[in-house]
Amino acid sequence: MGHCKFSKFDMLSLIILFYMAHSENDAQILNDRVSLLSFLSGITHDPENALESWNSSIIHVCKWSGVECDMNKNRVIELNLSHKSLRGKISPALFNLSHLAILDLSGNFFQGLIPSEIGYLNRLKELSLSSNLLEGNIPSEIASLQQLVYLNLGSNKLAGEIPISIFCNASSSLQYLDLSNNSLSGEIPLQNRCALTELKYLLLWSNRLVGKVPLALSNSSKLEWLDLETNLLTGDLPSEILSNMPHLKFLYLSYNHFSSHNDNTNLEPFFASLRNSSNLQEIDLAGNYIGGELPSIIGDLSALVQINLDTNFIYGPIPPQISNIVNLTLLNLSSNLLNGSIPSELCQMGRLERLYLSNNSLSGHIPPEFGNMPHLGLLDLSKNKLSGTIPDSFANLVQLRRLLLYENELSGTIPPSLGKCVNLEILDLSHNRISGTIPSDVAGLNSLKLYLNLSSNLLHGAIPLELSKMDMVLAIDLSSNNLSSFLPSQLGSCIALEYLNLSRNGFDGQFPSSIGNLPYLKELDVSFNELTGKIPQSLQQSSTLKLLNCSYNNFSGNITNKGSFSSLTVNSFLGNDKLCGSVKGMRKCHRKRITRHFLMAILLSLLITPIFCLVGYPLVWRRSNFRRKLPVLNGNKDIKDVEDTKEEIKYPRISRRHLFEATGGFSDANLIGSGRFGHVYKGVLRDNTPIAVKVLHYSQKTDEIWGSFKRECQVLKRTRHRNLIRIITTCSRPDFKALVLPLMPNGSLEDHLYPTREMKNGLDLVQLVSICSDVAEGMAYLHHYAPVKVVHCDLKPSNILLDDDMTALVTDFGIARLVKGADESAGFGDDSASYDSTDGLLCGSVGYIAPEYGMGKNASPQGDVYSFGVLLLEIITGKRPTDVLFQEGSSMHEWVKSRYPNKLNPIVEEAIEKRAPRGQMPFDKKIWGDIIFELIELGLICTQYNPTTRPTMLDVAHEVGLFKQYLCNSSSTFVIEQTLTN
Ligand SMILES: *[C@@H]1O[C@H](CO)[C@@H](O)[C@H](O)[C@H]1NC(C)=O
Ligand SMILES: *[C@@H]1O[C@H](CO)[C@@H](O)[C@H](O)[C@H]1NC(C)=O
Ligand SMILES: *[C@@H]1O[C@H](CO)[C@@H](O)[C@H](O)[C@H]1NC(C)=O
Repeated sequence: MGHCKFSKFDMLSLIILFYMAHSENDAQILNDRVSLLSFLSGITHDPENALESWNSSIIHVCKWSGVECDMNKNRVIELNLSHKSLRGKISPALFNLSHLAILDLSGNFFQGLIPSEIGYLNRLKELSLSSNLLEGNIPSEIASLQQLVYLNLGSNKLAGEIPISIFCNASSSLQYLDLSNNSLSGEIPLQNRCALTELKYLLLWSNRLVGKVPLALSNSSKLEWLDLETNLLTGDLPSEILSNMPHLKFLYLSYNHFSSHNDNTNLEPFFASLRNSSNLQEIDLAGNYIGGELPSIIGDLSALVQINLDTNFIYGPIPPQISNIVNLTLLNLSSNLLNGSIPSELCQMGRLERLYLSNNSLSGHIPPEFGNMPHLGLLDLSKNKLSGTIPDSFANLVQLRRLLLYENELSGTIPPSLGKCVNLEILDLSHNRISGTIPSDVAGLNSLKLYLNLSSNLLHGAIPLELSKMDMVLAIDLSSNNLSSFLPSQLGSCIALEYLNLSRNGFDGQFPSSIGNLPYLKELDVSFNELTGKIPQSLQQSSTLKLLNCSYNNFSGNITNKGSFSSLTVNSFLGNDKLCGSVKGMRKCHRKRITRHFLMAILLSLLITPIFCLVGYPLVWRRSNFRRKLPVLNGNKDIKDVEDTKEEIKYPRISRRHLFEATGGFSDANLIGSGRFGHVYKGVLRDNTPIAVKVLHYSQKTDEIWGSFKRECQVLKRTRHRNLIRIITTCSRPDFKALVLPLMPNGSLEDHLYPTREMKNGLDLVQLVSICSDVAEGMAYLHHYAPVKVVHCDLKPSNILLDDDMTALVTDFGIARLVKGADESAGFGDDSASYDSTDGLLCGSVGYIAPEYGMGKNASPQGDVYSFGVLLLEIITGKRPTDVLFQEGSSMHEWVKSRYPNKLNPIVEEAIEKRAPRGQMPFDKKIWGDIIFELIELGLICTQYNPTTRPTMLDVAHEVGLFKQYLCNSSSTFVIEQTLTN
């Protein structure tokens, strides 16, 4: 021990040494701090205050946001400021951070050049400057970054050639290189002497690169992802290179100028070269000049999931061996020169979701085996020479969303079984030789969201009334057929319709004014028919109508150039001899004739009206949509209240006596609920239709409330949506007022959230998210698409009913407000829409009411969004908002917010536990946890205090729809994975 004695001097020098070392470290981190501050001074905008913590000298550099230091806090080793909306220039001083290993400035708005000083960062492993506004050349100094593993300069405005040094001098450990989506030109400068042997990802898409794919790329045999799409590359397909890529997963060569071997006649070498790539999942060669036949060895690439060969010059037949690719989900061979028939073997690909064969020269019949493809969502066989009939077996395709068979030589009739494709959104059978009538089952496809095109066929007969069920369809084209009879006024129920073409048929009779009332109608063509009478005022008053063609009919009367007609010329009205008026180029009216017409009109109307009342009314009624659901129940036809009759013309009449019978005399045993305004009874009509009858309490206010209800019913009658309850009918006598609704066998969401002992199980997360998605869809419709905007005002679990397949329907519009779309461009014309039904009534229920309602704010869509947010939080936490309010003394929002984000775990865990799938179904806990977390976030965003910052119901519906889809997909694949691994 004795010899371990320090002299005073030793001690002192040690202290000095220590001090010096320490101050040197300090100096280094201080230098780094200076570099960061000069970088900061180049930033002109920081809208999210991402760099707020970079202000004070009190905060240590290593704690600045985005900054990471080494263990001793001596040096900055990482700077990550991705997606912070920063603007400005990248200061060269940044590159004095000589120990930096990771630099990520992606997803900002940095401008200007990439400073050449970047070459100083010789310890850099990961560099991302992607998705900025950087311009100029890529500095060749990047080649000094010898440690680089990840380099991403994609999605900027970089130009010039790719410096050779990037491939040559730079790190041979480079695994990821992304220069895509810039304006880079010249060849890909990869030379044989500089092998990038570790490269796994090479992404150069969307540039202006020319020349051939360099042979030296063969050295990168670990390549998994090669994307050269959308350049100007030439030469034969790079088969020689690809044959050395056993790990290749994704190959994208589309939109270049590649050709196939042997002077663009032989595709076999290309597909043969890929046989070693046993993981290859996607091939995309679209939009090249590739010729040759599809070789049968394509079937050997058995791991493929997507093949995209469209828009080339591939000829010959489709090899049936393609069907060996059992996991294929997408096959696109459209816009080639394929001929022969469609091999029925294709239909063995049980996972195929999208099949495009359009724009070829395929002939023969459509194989009926298509009915065996359970996942088929899109089938496009348009623009071929297919003949024969449309197979009946399409009825099995329950997933089918788009069916495009136009421009073929198909004959026969439209199979009514197509009506079973309940998810169909687009149906286009135009330009064929299809005959017969339009089957009512097909016309009743209310799933059609986009368009129905049956034009240019040989169809005859009347338009089926069921067509009015297409309340989401945007366009209907029935032109150039032999359709006849009158135009049903019920077409006015296709309320989303923007484009309607009925031209070149044999329609006669009057043009129904309801069509002019369609709130979004933009284009209407009824030319070349035999329509008579006046052109309805409603068309002229439409605020959306842009194009109208009434030519070559027998319209009569006097029209003005006002309203939507002000931009039209006589070209819209040619060939109607009895039409006159002030439209540009049109014959002026002669006064006398008009008077005569006017008198005639009065006479006629006197004659017609009584006939219509006696004959027309039952006719209209018999044709109504409820016909099949309910028998005619008005044995006692006391039409004393003429006004009521007119108003309820579309409803079947049900007398109080019938309701009394149906509900066992409104017995307590049949009482299923009570609300603010009355009791709800269940019952069964004589034809066994189960119903719910809502009987209003009698009070002095009843009349007033009833008035509102009735007007609402009228509007709701038109607002049809699968997630909104439909009113069967109403029953009104001075002393008795009731609404009749379909009975929902599964009760309300409330019953399921808080099950009583006799009910077995609560709902699982998949069901709940699906219900939320339904509700959001219904609400989005009310707010955004309904002919009159409706604010529900009282969204809560007891107002969400579940039908037999657990589809959710929003109900109880008892205190809904109808708001005229004043701020929308599509004015709704009808003044009756602007009334307010809830004067003097409190909007909403405790716990669900938006805070602003307490402050004299009017009912608003944002208030409904708030209630929806509470609903989400309630579903996840399993707590009633009223319980939270009374036990915790805070709103649902505050209560959850106080735990967000770090203390949410117990809530998430509990929700996973409680909402796990029923039975022994396996599920992915992590995904469920993530979704639950995101649902909570969405709930919090919807319940923000400030109504203007809440999302719209449309956004919410979209978001929840994504969750639903994600959850469904993940649970099905998870189950498959589980069963395979077990
Ligand atoms: C500096 O940062 C602190 C902590 O982030 C912040 O509270 C303060 O407002 C900032 N000061 C300025 C002048 O930006
Ligand atoms: C098809 O996909 C499944 C998983 O989805 C996979 O296990 C199987 O190996 C794939 N088949 C082929 C031939 O790649
Ligand atoms: C056209 O009809 C309007 C009323 O609809 C009438 O006021 C006008 O005088 C008529 N014009 C002519 C030229 O008859």
